[in-house]
Amino acid sequence: MTFVITQPCIEVRDQSCVEVCPVDCIHFEEGEDRMLYIEPVACIDCGACEPACPVDAIFDEADLPDDMTHFTSINVLWYSDPEGARAQVASIPALEGAEEARAAAVARAEAEAAVAAAEAAAADEPSKGLYKYGEGGIEGKCILCGQYVTKGGVMFRAKSVACADCAAKAERIRDPYRQVAGRR
Ligand code: F3S
Ligand code: F3S
Repeated sequence: MTFVITQPCIEVRDQSCVEVCPVDCIHFEEGEDRMLYIEPVACIDCGACEPACPVDAIFDEADLPDDMTHFTSINVLWYSDPEGARAQVASIPALEGAEEARAAAVARAEAEAAVAAAEAAAADEPSKGLYKYGEGGIEGKCILCGQYVTKGGVMFRAKSVACADCAAKAERIRDPYRQVAGRR
């Protein structure tokens, strides 16, 4: 027994199923396929993909609706004869709402990519990303000018950090009498 991808996937290709499959057995060829296919030999029947699909395209083979049973052989065929599988899928129409579901999938993928890019950029340049005390080599924000101070840059006392540019000024503020002692 295996799980099978069926008609609602056609022209949607959401790929949430791919993200959750623990054995990486759901495939398609970008630009060539109208839907994705589960490799029956590799599928371990965990069922994780079934609830992940937003258009309910995935079924346990035993629970396939009567009008979807032909997708079992189509899924199998793709792994030995992808052109043959595509020829069969070519004659099957996408279901109503597929266009909107596809647009939602694309928007989700773009949002995820943007978040990943922002996180990568923040990791590369912590002083320009999210500031978190003690992380990314950051000691703190300069008490005077507000720029970030990184480890190894400037000594700091307790909760106060001064950047290299403001260090002398900060010292005078912290210990004003040291500056005037000689004049007394
Ligand atoms: Fe993967 Fe779904 Fe099978 S998550 S292992 S294709 S049941
Ligand atoms: Fe298709 Fe649903 Fe997967 S639309 S690609 S079976 S998440």
